[in-house]
Amino acid sequence: MLPEPGRTRFVAVKTMKHLILAPLRGYTDAVFRNAYQRHFKGVGEAVAPFVTSIKGRRIKPSHLRDLAPADNRAMPVVPQILSNDPDEFLCLANTLCDLGYREINWNLGCPFPMVAKKMRGSGLLPHPDVVDRMLDKVLNGFAGNLSIKTRLGRFSGSEMDHLIPVFNRYPLARVIVHPRTGVQMYAGEVDLVAFDVCLARITHSVVYNGDINDLEMFHSLESRFPSASGWMLGRGLIANPFLPEMIQSGNRLIGNRNQRFEKFHDDLMDSYRRQFSGPGHLLDRMKGFWSYFAAGFPDGRRIVKRIRKVDTLDRYRREVMALFNDQDQWA
Ligand SMILES: Cc1cc2nc3c(=O)[nH]c(=O)nc-3n(C[C@H](O)[C@H](O)[C@H](O)COP(=O)(O)O)c2cc1C
Repeated sequence: MLPEPGRTRFVAVKTMKHLILAPLRGYTDAVFRNAYQRHFKGVGEAVAPFVTSIKGRRIKPSHLRDLAPADNRAMPVVPQILSNDPDEFLCLANTLCDLGYREINWNLGCPFPMVAKKMRGSGLLPHPDVVDRMLDKVLNGFAGNLSIKTRLGRFSGSEMDHLIPVFNRYPLARVIVHPRTGVQMYAGEVDLVAFDVCLARITHSVVYNGDINDLEMFHSLESRFPSASGWMLGRGLIANPFLPEMIQSGNRLIGNRNQRFEKFHDDLMDSYRRQFSGPGHLLDRMKGFWSYFAAGFPDGRRIVKRIRKVDTLDRYRREVMALFNDQDQWA
């Protein structure tokens, strides 16, 4: 029906949410990112797991293998650097820019004591003066865009009070906030009140990250933080690779979920088989994924236990095939 003259015709425009695949070292590498894009929709870009800066001027291509441009065409990728040394950071960041990357992300969130004790990752958060000096030096010598992925602090969320004015002094592309402290690791609640403060006080675009595990959580975050510029999903996306598509489509999924998940699994495994030299590495990698995949199945804990025990690829395949034949969680 034509609209009446003089009346505006409203067309419902569906806006895509900006969903970002989180960096999970040992999981969301180029093999995973590419296989994921072949089977699922809804993710707009990825931040790659961190690469550490290294002493000296020569960076071996093997150090940046996961970021080889030819293997990173499926979706826009932002490389991430773990470093507390501005010269090392610049050397690596400029090398990545030469490969064609426009944005580099600085990891201020890694919680592992081995890393944090050496004042890297979340270990830098109690030292806003060091963060300040690092940003000053890096941004004076870097032609690309710099973004940050941070936690609220290492020991306490109050560390953010001193970090925000530092972040605001520099032209950052965006700040991704995972509202936990470093000592919380990946457990305990995300602090949404503290995230609200970050959103209000950080003058750059702010991306939310943490515990987006289902549609309900996504919708409650989206309505609570309408000014967030994007949403980063990690463990929840690996556990339910359909989640971005569900978010984008209002929960309408195309095709049989069980079959789609199985095809994705097989493609992922084939792709890793081509990358790894021996069956042991392939088996370990695939077993690792099941600590997340199992959440999508009704009997998840039992599944993880059984899969952890397998010691050959043949047994792995038998376990997984039985699972795909028996379960229809994704159907
Ligand atoms: C196994 C594992 C590896 C991770 N590796 C990285 C990393 O390389 N860089 C980073 O910034 N965050 C890393 N993270 C943190 C995630 O990117 C994300 O901030 C965190 O898991 C919270 O988001 P989620 O609840 O959506 O998973 C890692 C998390 C896990 C569990």
